[in-house]
Amino acid sequence: MGLIFSGVQPTGNLHLGNYLGAIRNWARLQGEFECIYCLVDLHAITVPQDPAELTRSTREAAAGLIASGIDPEGSVVFNQSQVPQHAELTWIFNCIARLGWLNRMTQFKEKAGKHRENATVGLYDYPILMAADILAYKATHVPVGEDQKQHLELSRDIAQAFNSMFEVDFFPLPEPQIFGGATRVMSLRDGSKKMSKSEPSDFSRINMTDEADAIAQKIRKAKTDPLPLPETVAEMEERPEARNLIGIYAALADEEPEATLTRFAGKGFGDFKSELADLAVSTFGPIGSEMKRLMDEPDEIDAVLRRGAERARAMAEPVVREAQDIVGFLRP
Ligand code: AMP
Ligand code: TRP
Repeated sequence: MGLIFSGVQPTGNLHLGNYLGAIRNWARLQGEFECIYCLVDLHAITVPQDPAELTRSTREAAAGLIASGIDPEGSVVFNQSQVPQHAELTWIFNCIARLGWLNRMTQFKEKAGKHRENATVGLYDYPILMAADILAYKATHVPVGEDQKQHLELSRDIAQAFNSMFEVDFFPLPEPQIFGGATRVMSLRDGSKKMSKSEPSDFSRINMTDEADAIAQKIRKAKTDPLPLPETVAEMEERPEARNLIGIYAALADEEPEATLTRFAGKGFGDFKSELADLAVSTFGPIGSEMKRLMDEPDEIDAVLRRGAERARAMAEPVVREAQDIVGFLRP
């Protein structure tokens, strides 16, 4: 049986894209695998964060995972900074990975933008910390979105480089698990952009904490084109907004987009949107309510994360200690 590790940055509001693209899949893996889910606050500070807001959104993200069905008794749920082994292993990996490997990372190039000299060293080192997250537990499977594939390949390169440098067979090479279906939920205002917490317009996304009214209103106002709904998947290709809304419907109904199309083919967007709104309110709405209920009990969330961190440390400590032995660090 494999061990799953995945992480999400506890910054800003969790939204429907996070839920359908990541968190729901994480919840579903629990039956099959032992799972570790981490709120990666060390990754979050690679760009400036307001301290009070970081604390708040760490609790919010924990509430979001639990409300989505991740059981913190079965799975290990914690925030990264409570487990020092992540940072310790990062240092060893920093001394194995090459500048050339990091220079190829497209996410750094995107996030650093034109002012590369101004990016933090942490942002550059981000993928190495991600490798340490995974390998500190010798995790074998890593469910991530398409955009994290390159980082995962780097994790494999680092594992391999460590093993060959010290002539050991110590770290497993972690496998990415890219989910099919609605892995990319697009903005409700622009079908060519990903739904994102950093998009200024709140109408571009459905937040996990949105009330039923807000969910319905955002769907009603979502951008569409003037044609009736497409009849085939091929027809959706050129119609990003239609494709996005149908993709969201199919994901929430847990069916293939073909089935959704059959149901609504030829209808107008008005009818479709009101059905989509009902579906979103009945499936996604209760998760938001549960999340808000949990957020009213911050002490309980903190206790859950503390317990998760204890369990995570108990798992990571022997692995990282053995890696340190392999490197030759003297132990008292
Ligand atoms: P982020 O919010 O970028 O830190 O991403 C957290 C997780 O949610 C990652 O696994 C992403 O791939 C996933 N995710 C974020 N935005 C979307 C989206 N619009 N559609 C699908 N998955 C997403
Ligand atoms: N970089 C990932 C993201 O932005 C989050 C992450 C951090 C992660 N460490 C991880 C994902 C380890 C999987 C495994 O989505």
